[in-house]
Amino acid sequence: MDTIATTVSNEDFLATVAEKSDGAALRGNYEKADEHYVVEQDWDSYTEAEHELWRKLYQRQMELLPGRACDEFLDALHKMDASGGIPSFERTSQDLFAATGWRIVAVPGLIPELTFFEHLANRRFPVTVWLRTPEEFNYIVEPDVFHDYFGHVPMLFNPVFADYMQLYGKGGLKAMKLGGLDYLARLYWYTVEFGLIKTNQGLRIYGAGILSSGGEVEYCLKPGTTSRHIRLDIERCLQTLYKIDSFQETYFVIDDFKQLFDGTAPDFTPYYERLKQLDALPANTLLPGEVELLP
Ligand code: PHE
Ligand code: FE
Repeated sequence: MDTIATTVSNEDFLATVAEKSDGAALRGNYEKADEHYVVEQDWDSYTEAEHELWRKLYQRQMELLPGRACDEFLDALHKMDASGGIPSFERTSQDLFAATGWRIVAVPGLIPELTFFEHLANRRFPVTVWLRTPEEFNYIVEPDVFHDYFGHVPMLFNPVFADYMQLYGKGGLKAMKLGGLDYLARLYWYTVEFGLIKTNQGLRIYGAGILSSGGEVEYCLKPGTTSRHIRLDIERCLQTLYKIDSFQETYFVIDDFKQLFDGTAPDFTPYYERLKQLDALPANTLLPGEVELLP
């Protein structure tokens, strides 16, 4: 395993965020975070009302996900046994480590990019400790424990996807040096967060942003919408803008997780160089020769 070389101070990060969002405070308590932004989950501090809200979120998703989420996700989720309330990260972490060598670490909320990449590169997935409020049942701006744990952790039980996530982290550290972060972030968005996969039964979801959302689970597989469903091509994806405040206008579809792993294995340095000479593609682009995969 790699060791962590660099850290970012809380002060630097909070100052950056404050600048970015007109001084809006970050949600979450960063005071007890260590230099990697890791905190204790403090499971005992969740209230019964929070456990109840978790169960409702969980139930709602389970009414939608069979026949829509990929088998890899559903099989792992069932084994995680997290339907009864906000789960203990430590317990899942032990099973996850046994399966793929990944661990969960608890974080107060959003963390700096560098820290995020360092965690992934070392097979640690940061999961936010706090849960949304009942008013945010359908929509939440910042990732909470339901999105991070329910959406992301099951896929880390898949060995190929787990390796992809680690290499993504290493790729992020490299992209920071090459000025490639804007491009690489699009790949994360369109795969880890909003990815679809082709199966013999039809298209299925593996992206956490969809899997943890009420509305988009149905929308993304519904025939006849204006959104695109096209086969993933890495450079095309790196060039494509995305929407953060509406359902996606394009979903990139993979054949299998090996395609994702192999397609991202090449050195991205020449990709970044080429992309810097090009304009980004709007989120609803359909290029000549691209085929809509949802009839
Ligand atoms: N191969 C990419 C590079 O050289 C790194 C990467 C791997 C990015 C996996 C995303 C996913 O930069
Ligand atoms: Fe996410």
